[in-house]
Amino acid sequence: MAQWTEGRVIERIDWTERLHSLRIEAAIEPFKAGQFAKLGLKIGDEIVGRPYSIVSAPGEPLLEFYFSTVPEGPLSPRLARLAAGDAVLLGPRPNGFLVLDEVPPTIHLWLLSTGTGIGPFLSILKTAEPWQRFQRVVLVHAARTADELSYRRAIARIMEAEPRRFSYIPVVSRERADYALAGRIPTAIADGRLEARAGLALDPAKCHVLLCGNPAMLEDATAALIARGLRKHKRKEPGQISMESYW
Ligand SMILES: Cc1cc2nc3c(=O)[nH]c(=O)nc-3n(C[C@H](O)[C@H](O)[C@H](O)COP(=O)(O)OP(=O)(O)OC[C@H]3O[C@@H](n4cnc5c(N)ncnc54)[C@H](O)[C@@H]3O)c2cc1C
Ligand SMILES: NC(=O)c1ccc[n+]([C@@H]2O[C@H](COP(=O)([O-])OP(=O)(O)OC[C@H]3O[C@@H](n4cnc5c(N)ncnc54)[C@H](OP(=O)(O)O)[C@@H]3O)[C@@H](O)[C@H]2O)c1
Repeated sequence: MAQWTEGRVIERIDWTERLHSLRIEAAIEPFKAGQFAKLGLKIGDEIVGRPYSIVSAPGEPLLEFYFSTVPEGPLSPRLARLAAGDAVLLGPRPNGFLVLDEVPPTIHLWLLSTGTGIGPFLSILKTAEPWQRFQRVVLVHAARTADELSYRRAIARIMEAEPRRFSYIPVVSRERADYALAGRIPTAIADGRLEARAGLALDPAKCHVLLCGNPAMLEDATAALIARGLRKHKRKEPGQISMESYW
């Protein structure tokens, strides 16, 4: 199979100056909600490719990706300049283990994200599976400022569909926002504010936690969860914490 497949940009959404989504038409292999695909562009003589989580649910007609521009990075600023009609390369085979198939049977699902790490969780939440498997689903999204809490409308639709079972908890670290928890996720776990806002305990016997985004958050949140009696999940040694790091 070829290493790259050509896709076409159908739409670019600009959430802020540095946060964007691309909707792309492309024929790639089927994926599971939560997986990532490679996006690539020809830069000079070589193709530069990077993994990006798929925000769309399997079966949706377009592939959607949510990303931030890293000014000094080679690929993301170029992706942010693509417009409808432009060509973009995709790795043909999506991949990744941040999927519900890897979550052992449990009662409550917690999804903790920073920045663009919310992407794979949006894909998972658009499918039927979380609502068939879990009594409660809590989505936590941490950003520096309130304007970086993207996808609020899509999240509001999930809240309307599942008002009793779904909770959305925004966390904002660098300004005050009435509706958001202040500070960082690990502190909100340690001081009990996250559970108080969710109205749900992080009980190791009843929950699984998926984390995605900034590697420092993954590390600090894992330490806070371990202090609460949870442990990392391995196929051979089941636990309650699974994660995907973006860098
Ligand atoms: C499995 C996986 C899935 C990913 N999914 C996404 C996604 O859905 N959306 C997305 O924006 N990025 C995602 N990334 C990161 C992405 O692949 C690129 O690294 C990023 O877009 C920057 O690309 P670049 O070539 O411009 O710079 P790079 O040379 O790749 O990165 C330069 C530096 O930018 C920082 N950085 C990288 N990614 C991010 C980010 N997302 N937010 C803030 N800082 C970052 C890191 O410090 C990194 O060392 C994912 C990475 C992995 C490993
Ligand atoms: N956001 C911007 O306005 C902006 C603008 C230009 C460039 N950038 C660059 O883009 C890159 C990523 O920025 P980003 O804002 O998308 O992602 P980020 O730095 O991962 O921040 C997202 C959220 O994660 C939190 N966080 C960071 N480290 C954490 C930890 N150890 N534990 C728990 N939470 C943690 C941040 O809190 P804190 O705020 O407390 O760190 C913030 O609330 C950075 O290199 C940045 O310099 C960002």
